[in-house]
Amino acid sequence: MSAAASEVAPGALAGRVVLVVGAAGGLGEAASLACAEAGASLVLLGRRVSRLESLHDRLHKTGAAPALYPLDLEGASPDDHAELAARIDAAFGRLDGILHVAASFDGLTPLELTDPAAFARALHVNLTARWWLTQACLPLLRRAGDASVVFAIDDPARTAGAYWGGYGLAQAGLSALVGMLQAELGDTPVRVSGLLPPPMRTPLRARAHVEAEDRIARSPVEVAAHCVALLSPAGAPHRGQLWSPGVALRA
Ligand SMILES: NC(=O)c1ccc[n+]([C@@H]2O[C@H](COP(=O)([O-])OP(=O)(O)OC[C@H]3O[C@@H](n4cnc5c(N)ncnc54)[C@H](OP(=O)(O)O)[C@@H]3O)[C@@H](O)[C@H]2O)c1
Repeated sequence: MSAAASEVAPGALAGRVVLVVGAAGGLGEAASLACAEAGASLVLLGRRVSRLESLHDRLHKTGAAPALYPLDLEGASPDDHAELAARIDAAFGRLDGILHVAASFDGLTPLELTDPAAFARALHVNLTARWWLTQACLPLLRRAGDASVVFAIDDPARTAGAYWGGYGLAQAGLSALVGMLQAELGDTPVRVSGLLPPPMRTPLRARAHVEAEDRIARSPVEVAAHCVALLSPAGAPHRGQLWSPGVALRA
C-alpha cells in the first residue's frame, strides 16, 4: 500500500536521525514537530538562530532534544556542507533522512526585469545548495539501512509559467534531480523522493498571493504527516518519484 493510502504508524521514525533543512519555515516547523512526534532525533538547520531557538523550545516542551545547526545556504560552501555531515556523524554516528524545505522566493517578477544577482541566488539556494548538502551527506546516508532524501518541490507545471523566474527554474531542476539521483543510486539503501505539497499558508506563498483572498491554501500542519511518511519506511513506494498527495494523512 502506498503512503498516500496508509496511516503513518506511531513511532514511524523511532531510532532515526533526520536533518530538516529550513526547519524554521512554515512547512519546516510543522514537519519538525511531526517528525519528533514520530520518534526521530532531529538536526534543525536554518539561517536565523532566534527562530531555531524558538522551535527548539517548542520541541523541548514535548520531550524532544533537537540539535540546532545555523547555516545560511546562500553563502555555504561545499566545505561547509562537508563539515555539517562530519558534525552529524560525530554527534549521532548516523543519518537516516534529509527533509529539504528551505526555499528562497522573492516574488513574481518578469525575467527581463530580474536582478541578475537575485536570479543566481534563487538557483543557488533552491537547487545547487540542496544538491551540495545532499552530496556531502550521501556517504553517511549510504551507511543507514533505509535512508530517505525528500525534496519539497513547488508544482513544476505551475512554476514553469511566466514570472516564477529562478525559483521556478529551480523547481524544474529539482524534479529532474529526483529521478537522476535515484537512477544513479540504484538499489542502494538511499531513496530519493519529491514531495509536491498543496498550496500552504506560509510566508513563501504570501509573496505571490494576497493572504486574505487565498481560499485554497491549507495549514502546513496538514502536510507535515506526508513528510513523515516519505522519511519513514512507508515512503518506499515513492522511491525516485514525485508525489502529489491529498491532505488527509495523519501522523
Ligand atoms: N507554501 C506553499 O504554498 C508551497 C507550495 C508548494 C511547495 N512549497 C515548497 O515547500 C517548501 C517549504 O516552503 P514554505 O512554504 O514552508 O516556505 P517558508 O515558510 O518561506 O520557509 C522557507 C524557509 O527557508 C529558509 N531559507 C530561505 N533562504 C535560506 C537560506 N539562504 N539559508 C537557509 N535557509 C533559508 C527560510 O528562512 P527565513 O525564515 O530566515 O526566511 C524559511 O525558514 C519549499 O520547498 C517550497 O518550495 C511550498
